Amino acid sequence: MINVRDLHKSYGANRLFEGVSFQVEKGEAVVLIGPSGSGKSTVLRCINGLETFDSGEITVAGIGLHSINRKRPMKEDAETIRRVRLKLGMVFQQFNLFPHMTVLQNVTEAPIRVLGMGRAEAIAQARDFLKKINLEGKAESYPAQLSGGEQQRVAIARALAMRPEAMLFDEPTSSLDPEMAGEVLSVIRKLVDEGMTTMIATHEMGFASEVAGRVIVFDKGSIIETGPPSQIFTSPKVLRTREFLNRVLGRF
Ligand SMILES: Nc1ncnc2c1ncn2[C@@H]1O[C@H](COP(=O)(O)OP(=O)(O)OP(=O)(O)O)[C@@H](O)[C@H]1O
Ligand SMILES: [Mg+2]
Repeated sequence: MINVRDLHKSYGANRLFEGVSFQVEKGEAVVLIGPSGSGKSTVLRCINGLETFDSGEITVAGIGLHSINRKRPMKEDAETIRRVRLKLGMVFQQFNLFPHMTVLQNVTEAPIRVLGMGRAEAIAQARDFLKKINLEGKAESYPAQLSGGEQQRVAIARALAMRPEAMLFDEPTSSLDPEMAGEVLSVIRKLVDEGMTTMIATHEMGFASEVAGRVIVFDKGSIIETGPPSQIFTSPKVLRTREFLNRVLGRF
């Protein structure tokens, strides 16, 4: 579903990725962990076409994002990025809901405007998603009237309303208190259980170990280890993984 091959990317003189490669199969839940600044957000942003890269190739549901020459962008580049974004739902740490729209409007806006879905169908679909995230009663509320956890669940419903083939989450719970984080995590877990292809960057090791089919450990722009959570969290093979987990979990 998602294939990253030999990704290279620098910020100015700072080399971040020097040949990152991995694949995410359909239905897989892959969790990215690693120290702050290791490249987790950047790799998600490259996959979604929010960031350019210098060389390598990223394929999403068969659509290839090549290293696009930003100095001379071509029309086809924008079209490719648009097609890739239609395949992916992305949820960030900040919920980015439209503040002037109700919950229902937030969840129906893009399907109507971008997909050309009929209003009645979009509303019916939105109500289904709101039920799924336990916010049926909040359809007419505005984002400012919701808790952080509720807003983040609406952001997830809004992404799902575009019928993506995969969902990317970048620290979806890091601005929430533990109880609200728990509600968001259970929504994400439900999606994963239903077979949604999912990539999640997180600092929450408990969640990572529960939801991940596979964990990818980043450090300084490189993948240093990858494996099932049962192995990564109990017997990491790489010293730097051990040191990282030791710092965040106080283990090993
Ligand atoms: N727009 C930018 N300009 C310059 N450097 C950047 C930019 N965005 C990211 N970086 C650098 O790239 C590196 C990777 O950043 P990234 O945000 O991907 O890390 P991360 O693993 O998501 O960290 P965190 O866990 O703190 O979210 C960092 O060193 C960061 O400073
Ligand atoms: Mg990040």
